[in-house]
Amino acid sequence: MYLVIGATAHFGRQAVEELVATGAPVRALTRTPERAGLPAEAEVVRADLTKPETLPAALTDVEAAILVLQYGMDVAPLLDAAIRAGVQRLVFLTSGAVVPDAEQQPDVIAQYHRDVERAIEASGIEWTFLRLLFPAINSLAFAMQLQGGDVIRAPYADAAFSAVHERDVAEVAVRILTEGGHAGRTYDLTGPESLTQTQQVSILGSALERPLTIEDLDPQPVLEQMSQFMDPEFVAALFGLMAQTVGKPAPVNGVVEQITGHPARTYAQWAADHRADFEG
Ligand SMILES: NC(=O)c1ccc[n+]([C@@H]2O[C@H](COP(=O)([O-])OP(=O)(O)OC[C@H]3O[C@@H](n4cnc5c(N)ncnc54)[C@H](OP(=O)(O)O)[C@@H]3O)[C@@H](O)[C@H]2O)c1
Repeated sequence: MYLVIGATAHFGRQAVEELVATGAPVRALTRTPERAGLPAEAEVVRADLTKPETLPAALTDVEAAILVLQYGMDVAPLLDAAIRAGVQRLVFLTSGAVVPDAEQQPDVIAQYHRDVERAIEASGIEWTFLRLLFPAINSLAFAMQLQGGDVIRAPYADAAFSAVHERDVAEVAVRILTEGGHAGRTYDLTGPESLTQTQQVSILGSALERPLTIEDLDPQPVLEQMSQFMDPEFVAALFGLMAQTVGKPAPVNGVVEQITGHPARTYAQWAADHRADFEG
């Protein structure tokens, strides 16, 4: 049995669909099965990572799991339950913000993900880490603004990302989960090209057949505003990571193609796949 944790959000949902397509037995963990809307072939189980007593049933007979954690979630109860249940392999979706081999990470996003990686390493369960930074789904943050017009107002218009499509992430995770052979490996997942936010917006405009443009905002007032309703340290880390990408191309590698056998999907493909999210 393969388990997907975080199964109802972007990456996990795709992973469930990919696993179902392979014909493998799939279980999806969620706090609210009645709202999950997952394929009927998947066994949907109610559990909560903050309620350890709900975890043993979800982990029974699980050979391997894909782990997508909401930022800040304590992974310890899950690892305890996974060890007890005899889970053999974990594929953890982690952050490209992590600095390899650094004892002290540069920001809270990197520190959180490295702490989870360390806990998994110490669990004795075979692991593979997939690190990603600024995936294409981050563009969904523009959807609300686009209901009011064709101008996106955002800081760091010149920040460059090699945005990976969530389907590629899911395909890589599922290949590793079902085929094995990647124990102890850490992979950076990238899309096939480095694009600035300005270029992404232009491509999104082509997909939506709208003349979209981006207005580059001063980051500081936006940071202050976002910090009023989000964890200020998280927002500062996010803005710091974006600032670092301004004026230099984002790294691009061939990991998606090496593992899936096909080139990584382009941002244009992502935009075409998500038209409905921007038209609602
Ligand atoms: N976006 C990025 O820039 C980026 C970059 C690198 C890595 N990542 C990784 O991807 C993660 C985000 O993935 P995402 O957007 O797909 O998910 P998400 O929106 O951060 O998390 C939502 C998922 O977590 C589950 N969840 C939340 N609390 C839970 C609980 N107490 N017990 C069980 N499940 C719980 C939800 O399930 P239910 O509501 O159905 O229970 C849902 O499936 C990040 O935290 C990070 O690790 C993201």
